[in-house]
Amino acid sequence: MSGHGDAQPMISAKCGALSGTAAVPGDKSISHRALIFGAMAVGETRITGLLEGQDVLDTASAMRAFGATVLRHAEGAWTVRGVGTGGFSEPEDVIDCGNSGTGVRLIMGTMATTPITATFTGDASLRKRPMGRVTDPLALFGARAWGRSGGRLPMTVVGAADPVPVRYTLPVASAQVKSAVLLAGLNAPGETVVIEREPTRDHSERMLLGFGAELHVEKTGEGHVITLRGRPELRPQTVAVPRDPSSAAFPVAAALIVEGSDILVPGVSQNLTRNGLYLTLVEMGAAIDFLNPREEGGEPVADLHVRFSPGLRGVEVPPERAPSMIDEYPILSVVSAFAEGKTTMRGVKELRVKESDRIDAMARGLEACGVRVEEDEDTLVVHGMGPGGMPGGATCRSHLDHRIAMSFLVAGMAAKAEIAVDDASPIATSFPIFESLMNGLGAAIRQG
Ligand code: S3P
Repeated sequence: MSGHGDAQPMISAKCGALSGTAAVPGDKSISHRALIFGAMAVGETRITGLLEGQDVLDTASAMRAFGATVLRHAEGAWTVRGVGTGGFSEPEDVIDCGNSGTGVRLIMGTMATTPITATFTGDASLRKRPMGRVTDPLALFGARAWGRSGGRLPMTVVGAADPVPVRYTLPVASAQVKSAVLLAGLNAPGETVVIEREPTRDHSERMLLGFGAELHVEKTGEGHVITLRGRPELRPQTVAVPRDPSSAAFPVAAALIVEGSDILVPGVSQNLTRNGLYLTLVEMGAAIDFLNPREEGGEPVADLHVRFSPGLRGVEVPPERAPSMIDEYPILSVVSAFAEGKTTMRGVKELRVKESDRIDAMARGLEACGVRVEEDEDTLVVHGMGPGGMPGGATCRSHLDHRIAMSFLVAGMAAKAEIAVDDASPIATSFPIFESLMNGLGAAIRQG
């Protein structure tokens, strides 16, 4: 179960050529941030293209619980009347962030420098994930947190009454941790500095500038040094959320492996902190044309023309690419299974603390589908079986992880025998229209 309903088995059968346009929903990372930054601005922020996935809906409810007025006007069209930096009020009840690590970590950061107390929880997947990576730096501001063993939810955070600014070097490449520290820094006096050795997605920095914060990024020998001046008055914005490149990855991958396919995926982000999968696919020999490059919602985007690519070759994915494609390794491992030769993904141990242990979930599922896989703590190797070579014919476990569920349903579109997923309900967290969109292109995905 996703924590929001019953298990929904789904089955994907081999299908004919895909065609048409895959208009994927709004970006999840930017949608969370639009709601949270809107809640910290003074006045009304207008959002279009908001992802109405469960993760984002849970963040919308949380912002209401902290005092913001969040309204839905039409599909994807929302307004947030913010309470100002430091203006959060104490929620009356437990904040349930469902399946969303981004939601809970960013919100913890946002309230950590306001003298209020909030208790957070989530579904069975989120309750397993480490929160110490966020509460450790938040303690430097003066916040305190008590959770279960291993720094896990449920957890109560007591915000600092007299926050002090912080200089913090990220011990892991994590945009969630970086963003939590920046959000906490908004209500601390003086300058908060975050140093990241490897660049991670930069939506918080871009959007904070848009909302009127004083922030600058310096590239030094230490990495990116991000300096934020505390206690700005954030100005409400009009945010046009671009499409999610992590969701676009599924129809793109499907078109590459299903014989005869030819599709268009419009408005895919080319932001260098998000495009690692697309670089890797091109290196593998994928037939992708990047058409009509332009800017949308403050992000560089292009329309992707994607064709069936029978000549895909396995590659070495370098560890430094991991932050820019961290959510795309599950679907890359499926594409790799349809390539010739082996694909080696190094530096991927962060995958073990996502919505599921994604190395283990993909390795076990691919093995069940007849693919040879090797793994260690920080590496995943997939031995490709060539186009149409994957036997399939298995039921794979999604482990409450949307991206694992979607990856195996895409695999089923080109495997010899049907692939079932034990519970596809988590797909609703990030890509609620997945089944209809994929079937509209020609997939044969059905409830099981
Ligand atoms: C996200 C950051 C990434 C990513 C997640 C979204 C964000 O997590 O996996 O899906 O919006 O900041 P980490 O920062 O923990 O790597």
